[in-house]
Amino acid sequence: MAEGLELQASAGGLRVAIVGAGVVGLSSALAIVEHYGGSPLGPTITVFAEKFSPHTTGDYVAGLWQPYPHGPVPPAETKWNWETFQYLLQFLKRADVPEMGLFVQSGYNLFKHRVPDPPWCDIVLGFRHLTQDELSLFPGWSYGWFNTTLMLECKNYLPWLMKKLTNYGIKFMKKKVTNFMELSPSYDVIINCTGVEAAHLVPDKEVQPGRGQLTKVYAPWLKHFYSTHDEQKGLYNAPYILPGSTGVVALGGILQLGNWNEEVNDEDRKYIWEGCCKLVPSLRNARVVDEWAGLRPCRSSIRLERETLGSGFSKVELIHNYGHGGYGVTIHWGCAQAVAALFVEICDEKKRAVPSHL
Ligand code: BEZ
Repeated sequence: MAEGLELQASAGGLRVAIVGAGVVGLSSALAIVEHYGGSPLGPTITVFAEKFSPHTTGDYVAGLWQPYPHGPVPPAETKWNWETFQYLLQFLKRADVPEMGLFVQSGYNLFKHRVPDPPWCDIVLGFRHLTQDELSLFPGWSYGWFNTTLMLECKNYLPWLMKKLTNYGIKFMKKKVTNFMELSPSYDVIINCTGVEAAHLVPDKEVQPGRGQLTKVYAPWLKHFYSTHDEQKGLYNAPYILPGSTGVVALGGILQLGNWNEEVNDEDRKYIWEGCCKLVPSLRNARVVDEWAGLRPCRSSIRLERETLGSGFSKVELIHNYGHGGYGVTIHWGCAQAVAALFVEICDEKKRAVPSHL
């Protein structure tokens, strides 16, 4: 208990600015505040963003818990994926889980050729290979997996997080931050959760937009997800069908690296429609209810690390947490825990820097 109080007191008076109010920014805020048990002796946190729910990228995407199906994954990211899945699973036992936007869903990953099992095959539930009978339902796809996973709809989850944060006394400010130094006189620690906007805020050539487009249809008869993978087309450029909780199904299959255009276009609409209807023909009878285009914050790996900006009185500690590509929902809570750990490290350093007689 005494140790806990000391921990809490160590962040007292520290002013934290979280930049970004998507799933990454809000969960980082929650992980920090929960680390201090919501105590008033913890830090004072303000979340800055140009857009809040329901206007963020997360509000439109389906929220399937699924990391990339193949390719090298840094070990830290596999751990953060696992931590997020385990964290979310616990909520399924609660009566208020629908308010959070969380539900269980099973479905198919389909390939043109045999592929190795993904590093997350032991994280999801009941991972197995498809039988020949199952594959015969999907002409043109010769290999596949079936598993049960989670869907976390951010149109519910972001307001749920904001409500929790508001109850903890966290403030929200609608403001476009164009330079972190503009926050430095008023904040001791800045947490960079700006997603693809990081490309305009930090000198990092690696972060780039991965444009996506979705068609939303009303098709309540679809109960499974279908995610196809075609090496020749590249990641997320093959059809996918992701049913939501209310009968609205997200149809996709676009990833355009380096494209900053957030307008829906006809060519991509046609590509998505034809690809998804070929995969699940009953979609041809579905009514289109919405369309959307947006930008994934793509990077070869997530940037989650500390940096010190400025010097002297204008010195400020920055924690980066961006570059989550199409798997922000999948990995967010593990990343938020890592941010909280870096924040505690900064608090401890600041505490050691204060002469003991003060
Ligand atoms: C996407 O970014 O389009 C995506 C992410 C996870 C699962 C399926 C699609």
